[in-house]
Amino acid sequence: MGNREPGMAPRAAASADAGAAHAHATGVPAPAIPRSAPLRLAVLASGRGSNLQAILDAIAGGTLNATVVGVFSDRPRAAALQRARDAGAQAQALSPRDFTSRAAFDRALFDAVDAVAPELIVCAGYMRLIGAAAITPRPGRIINIHPSLLPAFKGLHTHRQALAAGVVEHGASVHFVTADLDGGPVIAQARLPVLPGDDEIALSARVLSREHPLLLAALRLFADRDVTLREDSVHLRDERTAPLQLSSNNAFA
Ligand code: GRF
Repeated sequence: MGNREPGMAPRAAASADAGAAHAHATGVPAPAIPRSAPLRLAVLASGRGSNLQAILDAIAGGTLNATVVGVFSDRPRAAALQRARDAGAQAQALSPRDFTSRAAFDRALFDAVDAVAPELIVCAGYMRLIGAAAITPRPGRIINIHPSLLPAFKGLHTHRQALAAGVVEHGASVHFVTADLDGGPVIAQARLPVLPGDDEIALSARVLSREHPLLLAALRLFADRDVTLREDSVHLRDERTAPLQLSSNNAFA
């Protein structure tokens, strides 16, 4: 959601794992999902869909134990939808103009998302605000990839912001979605140097090339059921963790 509509702030709350959410909603602890079960992913995307493609390719190549149970967009012409269909995944777009309010759009979107029963919802270039009412019932179950080293350069035009600030290092972050604009707990990051002569196009291309392995490495943690959000902190195998850092070999340091 890093490139969301100007002026939009994501509204979310995420404070526990999916099992706790289930327990809260039903009073009954959720049955544990076996680590070997493919992770059921819903992907929200508004545009090009290169991160979605990386997910689809990794699943097809056997390097990510997951299944894309649905791809959802707020833009009927999003290339991501065709990428999903080409891979045999269910894809669906809802047009905001068909709804009387933002909340009504969110309700319809997340009804559709719920219908495919995802374990994790991945915002991969999803550019529309998600309201709190859609997020609060799904604590720790929505993540986003943002093209900066959060907390630096939230919001739009992150590469332009980085160049204007004159930083020597830039990158991308995968984080849980919370009520703060791109401010949720960071799960993992990929860092790269800003090179002399970099412009916005060159820098964004280099960041994107690190986004794909970063997102996949983060999703492998979820597929292993190793990462959760508890009390607003990222936990890795039950231990609170600082943001994981992607190495050049595409594993976490
Ligand atoms: C990526 O840069 C992602 O970080 C940002 O939007 C872009 C989406 O790219 N949130 P793509 O649609 O996955 O190619």
